[in-house]
Amino acid sequence: MRVSLARSGRSFPVEAGESLLDAAIAAGVRLAHGCRRGNCGACRARLTRGEIDYPDGPPLGLEPQDAADGLILMCRARPRGDLELDVDELRHPDEVAVKRLPCRIERAERLGREVIVLSLRLPPVEDLAFLPGQYLDVLLPQGRRRSFSIACPPHDARSIELHVRYVAGGAFTESLFATDPTGRLLTIEGPLGSFRYHPPAVGAPSDTAPREAVAAPEAPTTPLLLVAGGTGYAPIQAILRHVVERGARRAVHLYFGARTAADLYADARIREIARRAPLLSYVPVLSEPAADWGGRRGLVHDAVLADYESLAAFDGYACGPPAMIEAVCRTFPARGLDPARLYVDSFE
Ligand SMILES: Cc1cc2nc3c(=O)[nH]c(=O)nc-3n(C[C@H](O)[C@H](O)[C@H](O)COP(=O)(O)OP(=O)(O)OC[C@H]3O[C@@H](n4cnc5c(N)ncnc54)[C@H](O)[C@@H]3O)c2cc1C
Ligand code: FES
Repeated sequence: MRVSLARSGRSFPVEAGESLLDAAIAAGVRLAHGCRRGNCGACRARLTRGEIDYPDGPPLGLEPQDAADGLILMCRARPRGDLELDVDELRHPDEVAVKRLPCRIERAERLGREVIVLSLRLPPVEDLAFLPGQYLDVLLPQGRRRSFSIACPPHDARSIELHVRYVAGGAFTESLFATDPTGRLLTIEGPLGSFRYHPPAVGAPSDTAPREAVAAPEAPTTPLLLVAGGTGYAPIQAILRHVVERGARRAVHLYFGARTAADLYADARIREIARRAPLLSYVPVLSEPAADWGGRRGLVHDAVLADYESLAAFDGYACGPPAMIEAVCRTFPARGLDPARLYVDSFE
């Protein structure tokens, strides 16, 4: 069976039972997507010819009205025969090729109560080009895969850093936490996902210019609001380090939400980054703090709302569990944050 793309005229093969998105990725065709689980709606396309099935039932990320208008979610849709889709391929020069690579866990550091920071060593001749904020999949037996955000910035990716939270009974994470995984071989596929850092618009002072160039005085540029929940800090760290370590003159307001102080696993790392970044302000927020916690309490998005009457000035990035992302998407635009400048990644 083949899938044809009406706009570009390209086509690619798809197996029975294979999702349209997986088939596109396998063929090197780059299409926008996010969660790959039918939740985020990022992989929407219009079906202009042919028929599809959703073997797991109608996906949550597709509104009934969109489905009635002929839109489908490519990550869940399986073909019944040849198809034609009306969807744009990603052609931005920044977009990077998806690779499948073997790698070795060269370091596994326990941080906080239930997070392991993994450093993955790629084969010497290989590298992984990605954009700050993207994720990769760890491929498991029987075709299963687990997604993890890349926590290092592209300029420091000799080893790929991942932040893995323990999930009780989890097929992948239980084995990671049971014994020291150092030396273990993994297969990864990436980079994936449309969540990524967006440099300031053309005409605004660039934060991707060489360090020497940005040393000159600059007009102020849009401040960044970064909101992380739990290991949702991983892609936020990639963005934070990308901005700060490339010498950008961009104010960054980082909020990191966790349940208890022991869950603020990246606190020391953030404070270390903040020492070198005078334009970074950092607010840790605990939802279930001990009595002696002297910092902010409550839900992380509520702390942001308490601190800013208006969010209109910001570019916003948020990553974390679905409930946090839902709250951010509901409340931040109501406080003036332009939805087109609010980028979110949900760990569905
Ligand atoms: C785009 C994306 C990026 C992600 N990035 C990260 C990351 O950087 N760090 C990270 O730790 N995780 C991340 N996740 C979640 C991760 O992919 C796995 O879902 C998680 O590690 C559990 O895998 P597992 O095989 O151990 O558990 P599974 O065997 O898949 O699940 C075991 C049980 O736990 C439940 N469960 C699964 N995941 C979660 C969860 N996250 N919270 C609560 N319950 C859960 C399942 O419903 C099931 O009942 C990301 C997910 C997505 C979609
Ligand atoms: S709904 Fe398909 S990638 Fe999220």
